[in-house]
Amino acid sequence: MPDTRAASPSHGGPVQVFYAKKGAPRRPTVARAEGIYMWDTEGKRYIDASSGPVVSNIGHGNERVVRAMTEQARKVAYASRSLFENEPNIELADLVTSLAGPGLERAFFVSGGSEATEAAIKLARQYAVVRGETSRWKVIAREPGYHGGTLGALAITGDPEADRIFGALMKPMPKVPAPFSYRLPANHDADSYARQCAAALEDAIRREGPETVLAFIMEPVGGLATGALVAPDHYHRAVREICTRHGVLLIYDEVMSGAGRTGAFLAADHWPDARPDLVTLAKGIAAGYTPMGAVLAPASMVEVVAEAGGFMHGHTYAANPLSCAVGCAVVQEMIERKLMANAMAMGTRLRARLEALKAESAILGDIRGKGLLMAIEIVVDKETKAPPPAELQAVYRIIELGLERGIALYSRRTANGKYGEWLMVTPPLIVTAAEVDEIADLIGATLGAYEEELRRKKVI
Ligand SMILES: Cc1ncc(COP(=O)(O)O)c(C=O)c1O
Repeated sequence: MPDTRAASPSHGGPVQVFYAKKGAPRRPTVARAEGIYMWDTEGKRYIDASSGPVVSNIGHGNERVVRAMTEQARKVAYASRSLFENEPNIELADLVTSLAGPGLERAFFVSGGSEATEAAIKLARQYAVVRGETSRWKVIAREPGYHGGTLGALAITGDPEADRIFGALMKPMPKVPAPFSYRLPANHDADSYARQCAAALEDAIRREGPETVLAFIMEPVGGLATGALVAPDHYHRAVREICTRHGVLLIYDEVMSGAGRTGAFLAADHWPDARPDLVTLAKGIAAGYTPMGAVLAPASMVEVVAEAGGFMHGHTYAANPLSCAVGCAVVQEMIERKLMANAMAMGTRLRARLEALKAESAILGDIRGKGLLMAIEIVVDKETKAPPPAELQAVYRIIELGLERGIALYSRRTANGKYGEWLMVTPPLIVTAAEVDEIADLIGATLGAYEEELRRKKVI
């Protein structure tokens, strides 16, 4: 169907006008969505193979959520936290912290992942100041890593390309390497490299001066920045021990990995002997039905800060009743439908199907992840693991080819492709076996078409 809409509207236009060059093909306009399918205004159907950017955990058009949203909007949509407590806030905090388990008894709700990162850093800093550790302010993070687009979050986001443009606006924060498992430095296997990466954290703390280091932040199962990287168990234990040894708080960014996606409520649950001090959540916690994020913290930390005058941080929409009611319905739906168990079972099936594709594909180099947080890495040579040439912008072309075939996949070129190129395969946690098979077939067809294109261009 030819795209008859003006390529560049004279006024206004969709948000894509901030991203797309003049004349670039327009994205389809979404009309409706149900379950794991979406339809555009032309009636074309797409299977949502990545939950948007790993958001729509319980799928689209969920009746329970729509009901909760309507009922709460009728009762009271908004009330300022400085004047009123609200019931959905208390209910959601109880629910989320009981799922998160010991050591994370308090929840502070915000409007998204970046806000959650900012709140976690500020809570950690205020806790340090209140306890007289005013010299602690540095937050060490991994490169690559992603913790948000606001300036505080961007300073700890390990993306040299973002630093190049926005670095002047931020206070630079130390970075340590992420323990990649696929493309490794010479004389390393994944295990030995992960040990080296953990040692690099301790080196960085010593180099910076332990008394200046406030926290270390990492994604326990990687999101887009590393393509669902899973480090060996010993890495998690080593990081925990290093942080404890130096009085550094350990923050797990679970914006993508949390809320059931890896088959447990928190990815942290996979490493019970390496518990974090603070956890951030967003995306799946309200599954796209409302903007929402959260910081989970120990009651002891919150008490110390509250006794000293209270958390010096807040947003107009923090813990607003409407969003919290939506969050409650999403989390209850996840529990009642046993979606964490489904994420585990369907993740196993999806991985097996993708492994079969990999065996036949010339460009599918690696499959990583846990549960339904999975990514596929694209290469042009499986022997050398060479990524596609940058000028091809491979992942964006693959997304286009996918949309043509009725599958919606998510990617972004992390660090301008410095560490490789991958796409997220992260369907809603309600996905069935038949839908997993449909996703795998469509990914096979999409990668097949791209492989053909690379052969025609003599890239492979
Ligand atoms: C791991 C991680 N942290 C933080 C963020 C920022 O979340 P938001 O885009 O909701 O601000 C993201 C977003 O993709 C993320 O993946």
